[in-house]
Amino acid sequence: MNTIYFDSSVKDDVRRQRLYNGQLFVFSACPSVIALHQLVCDLLEATFGSPIPSVIEDGLPVEKFLAAESSLKHQIMNHPQTKQLVQSLLQEFECDLSKTYFDLPQLRIVPARGYLPNNEGMFHDPHRDTWYAAPQCLINWWIPISEFESESALAFHPLYWKQPVNNDSRSFNQEQDYKNNFREAEFPHPEQQIEIEPEIRIVCPAGGVILFSGAQMHSAVPNTSGSTRFSLDFRTVHYDDILTNNGAANIDSYSTVALLTDFMRGTDLAKFSEEVIASASKNLLKPTPLL
Ligand SMILES: [Fe+2]
Repeated sequence: MNTIYFDSSVKDDVRRQRLYNGQLFVFSACPSVIALHQLVCDLLEATFGSPIPSVIEDGLPVEKFLAAESSLKHQIMNHPQTKQLVQSLLQEFECDLSKTYFDLPQLRIVPARGYLPNNEGMFHDPHRDTWYAAPQCLINWWIPISEFESESALAFHPLYWKQPVNNDSRSFNQEQDYKNNFREAEFPHPEQQIEIEPEIRIVCPAGGVILFSGAQMHSAVPNTSGSTRFSLDFRTVHYDDILTNNGAANIDSYSTVALLTDFMRGTDLAKFSEEVIASASKNLLKPTPLL
């Protein structure tokens, strides 16, 4: 990986290939993302009394924080407008909706470091999303809801783009309800010391988008910014890439089942057939060349 593309106008086929090659894409706010952003702000306002609360954890018992977070995640995933807003977003980014499948956006709330006991929340730790039983063509769309600083950003760890890491992805339990209960879920994690530096932190305005391959080693920076960080993310996979096993090289993901049951086609929300999921699962452990 060596390039961050800003507001790139390359076609989706080229963009996906560059993502699989470890490059990163950053986009300014655009109408479809602003619409999704507004929905989240409306729900945040209904819960916290402010569309973009500055610090929600001050004086809030941890149990109440976790309950509010869980409720908001559920509301966003199940809101009648959410799927249509993601479809519009993919259309604005000129994805082929007939071949692009997406999952439901997840809200992330990162409170100040030290607020949650044991720094609860595995998303703080370095990981690859592909460790979570995902195909190598997984792409993460990360959308900041609040303005944020380097001290509360998402960090990429480029040392590990080509360097494997010992991890327990082999034993990831695909049955658990990890999306609704992500703080309790047993996610795969590194089984060795990770060199955090060098790291790349991209700071962009709220309503922007950071696009990255699910094979990127990344983490949430322990939040010392003084503000709660709110972000939304969802994932896409491309039908052709699933079938042809196109994607980032698999250097250390050991899942044997592709978790694709949640993904919906951009045109009509159809799910993958069992045959396609079986084929994707078979491809998971096939060696792919490092681009
Ligand atoms: Fe992640």
